Amino acid sequence: MMRPHYHYAPAANWLSDPNGLVWQDGEWHMFYQYNPFGEEWGHMSWGHAVSRDLATWQELPVALAEEDNTMIFSGSAVIDHAGSAGFGKAAMIAVYTGARTDRAHQFQCIAASTDRGRTFTKFAGNPVLDRAMADFRDPSVFWHEPSRQWIMVVVLSDENRALVYGSPDLKAWRELSEIARDGAPGHLWECPFLVELPVEGTDETRWLFKVDVLSGAPGSGALYRIGRFDGARFVPETAWQVADYGDEFYAAIGWTDPRDSMGRPTWIGWMGNHAVQKHLPKQGWRGAMSLPRRLSLRRDGAALKLVQAVEPACRALFGQPEAMALSDGFRPLARAALLEMTGQGDWQFTLADDAGRKLHVALAAGVLQVERIDPITPQLNRKSAMAIASDALVEIWLDSGSIEVIAGQGANCLTLQHRLAGEAFSLRGTGQMAVRYPVASA
Ligand code: FRU
Repeated sequence: MMRPHYHYAPAANWLSDPNGLVWQDGEWHMFYQYNPFGEEWGHMSWGHAVSRDLATWQELPVALAEEDNTMIFSGSAVIDHAGSAGFGKAAMIAVYTGARTDRAHQFQCIAASTDRGRTFTKFAGNPVLDRAMADFRDPSVFWHEPSRQWIMVVVLSDENRALVYGSPDLKAWRELSEIARDGAPGHLWECPFLVELPVEGTDETRWLFKVDVLSGAPGSGALYRIGRFDGARFVPETAWQVADYGDEFYAAIGWTDPRDSMGRPTWIGWMGNHAVQKHLPKQGWRGAMSLPRRLSLRRDGAALKLVQAVEPACRALFGQPEAMALSDGFRPLARAALLEMTGQGDWQFTLADDAGRKLHVALAAGVLQVERIDPITPQLNRKSAMAIASDALVEIWLDSGSIEVIAGQGANCLTLQHRLAGEAFSLRGTGQMAVRYPVASA
């Protein structure tokens, strides 16, 4: 199988959720759920990669490994500038869930690194937060300057709710409030993320709360609400909305800083999900990350919506657009390209490989649909659809193994894996497309 051309995937073995996204001294760190021993989920540990530009990555050795029948589940990382936790100024602190391999107990732990994330020492006083529960996981931690404390958002997965905790030192945690289910569809909450975002074109900010719902929620399961956060309580101002209408954009979390000139942080998601991943053919490695996406909010009438824009450094991997009028006859298309649908009104195209796998992408009456047809792995057959805010420009980031559709100037996203094989795919359709190919250095 071909590896992704411009998405991160490990050299070998299973990858899932991004973990511990943190920036230090010019390096973007990406830890992630990783099985060092195979392509199945298991022996969960934190794999590690670093980037200087958010576009190209270097894989490093496993950072936190399973030990004493305790796996290292998802979590976050912070730079403890003041040394509040006692591991020295600017120590990198990972906050993760310790998960007993018998599934009976999950608790929150910390580990510290003073060598730029290369090696971590687990805190001797772990766990730092324990409710004696089987499903209590995925701590998302950040420094909240106005209330001068660390904040942790963590889920009681089986109860479909999140708790907010505060701490002066990342060790002693006090419960502050609850983020309730409040009508959210589906079951089993995972990977919460709370972040302050700029409202486009204003100097206002609001807070985004995102959670992933394992089953029964629309799209990829990533749901969000926007509201206010005062250092103790998240007060939503919108209904639940869907972050990605594809099947496979899960467990996204962000680097909350540094931000760009518009105040936007970046997040990244796992292009997979637990229902589908195990059916994918073995190819030496299993799982890839989405492209990093810059986050902001847009006022849409009375409502606020999340806007996701592909990280500019990834766009810079591609050359100038070449106009292409789609037609009935199949023509070859490189397996890695940025496709921009530039015409107004309806269009459609099909990408196919020699084995009969297909992706149908179509815009009709304001609804964008992607149908994935895979006769070799029929568990992948799926139709995903989303209403789009504007047909002005639809970006389709095509890579070996994945397709990310970004429409409505970032307000509408749809991410899917695919298994189309070969150096080139066959393309036919109707409409106007501009194609950008990766530049040589990519
Ligand atoms: C989400 C998740 C998390 C958990 C991790 C285990 O994909 O189930 O809730 O921490 O994966 O790998």
